[in-house]
Amino acid sequence: MIRSIHAAQRLDSRGNPTVQVDLTTNRGTFRSIVPSGASTGANEAIELRDGDNSAYGGHGVQKAVSNVELVIGPALVKSGFNVDTDQGKIDHLLKTLDGTKNKAKLGANAILGVSMACARAGAAHSDIPLYEFLRRESGAQKPFVMPVPFFNVLNGGVHSGNKMAFQETMIAPVGASSFTEAVQMGSEVYQQLKKVIVEKFGPSAAGIGDEGGFAPPISQPHEALDLLVQAVSLAGYTGKIKFAIDPASSEFFRDGNYDLGFKDKKPNVQSPNQLTDLYRSLLQDYPIVLVEDPFAETDWDSWTKFNEGCPVELVGDDLLVTNTRYVQEAYEKKACNSMLLKINQIGTISEAIEAANLAYSFDWSVFVSHRSGETTDDFIADLAVGLRTGHLKSGAPCRGERVAKYNRLMDIEAELLGTGEKVIYAGSQFRVASKC
Ligand code: PGA
Ligand code: ZN
Repeated sequence: MIRSIHAAQRLDSRGNPTVQVDLTTNRGTFRSIVPSGASTGANEAIELRDGDNSAYGGHGVQKAVSNVELVIGPALVKSGFNVDTDQGKIDHLLKTLDGTKNKAKLGANAILGVSMACARAGAAHSDIPLYEFLRRESGAQKPFVMPVPFFNVLNGGVHSGNKMAFQETMIAPVGASSFTEAVQMGSEVYQQLKKVIVEKFGPSAAGIGDEGGFAPPISQPHEALDLLVQAVSLAGYTGKIKFAIDPASSEFFRDGNYDLGFKDKKPNVQSPNQLTDLYRSLLQDYPIVLVEDPFAETDWDSWTKFNEGCPVELVGDDLLVTNTRYVQEAYEKKACNSMLLKINQIGTISEAIEAANLAYSFDWSVFVSHRSGETTDDFIADLAVGLRTGHLKSGAPCRGERVAKYNRLMDIEAELLGTGEKVIYAGSQFRVASKC
């Protein structure tokens, strides 16, 4: 039984206010802190901000905090729901209390914080780790599959101050034999990349962006990928590490075209067909295995055309916003073959699991993701293991809020190996991990 729920305004990794929730039962107090995006999809659940310019430039979350304290907390305490068995009922109550389609009344930040804290408490009350609790909630099979970490080692788009339009350029150690080895490979490449950047652009170019990746003075995708080729080779991992890109193209979609110069104030406008050609040439020239949000969330036709015979994983982020409604629509339009899973895009754990299971039912893959504004809360590490998503992205192997997830995953791997539980590293099978 839930004894009390309290919330507080705390800071995220960009120094902006976010919601922290403490849920108390007779077993203890369970905490969660919610993340926040910058390149958000238009159809995401609403993150409630105070809009009062006298505090935090209007970004305060005191209203969301009060909604937990005064509305959600009392209702859940009164409900008598059990955290170990009633996650679905709890999340349904949270949705009903809000009553809007997109959680605009209470705020997805208020609701998600409570939903996450309930899951943590549920795991403790069931005497099982959070990943096992989430596995049971989702109905996923065993054995557990450790995800391939996709490290965003070069930051662009709205996550950094350089002129790179594409938001993320990632490395994926698919050739590792375990998650822990994948982290080592990622970290070694990251350190080599730093050396390459310093040599090429000088020490001041080694600063990092929101997700811990470097943000050197480059603007073209091939420049970013060439840097990765070099760093991977120096680290001795050529062939064992693949690449991925998330252009986050909704950010530079203007009147039906894409302005790759949007950060340069010098327009570089590409039609959807020209951008498609650019992607096709990148796929030919580099070992890319995953492309996320290559087109804007409203540019469905381009998605569908690119998806036809697409040789790589095509992930919908802004397009799907972890919402069954858009996952269904994208399936009908044959727009992509994979769903990005961001828990704060939808606002409850049960709905996030429902979206993932719908994606799986279409034979799609699911890719778990952090947000660019994060905290040291490591919930998504357990989520990736529990749902057997086979891959996750949590930024570069750098910055406390990014490595918190990778460190938790190394703990999970060690724990599973220690208990003799069968555990597989997804490796090159990351797209079909749920079927292992
Ligand atoms: P966001 O970026 O958290 O700023 O939305 C992550 C992404 O686009 O995948
Ligand atoms: Zn994205």
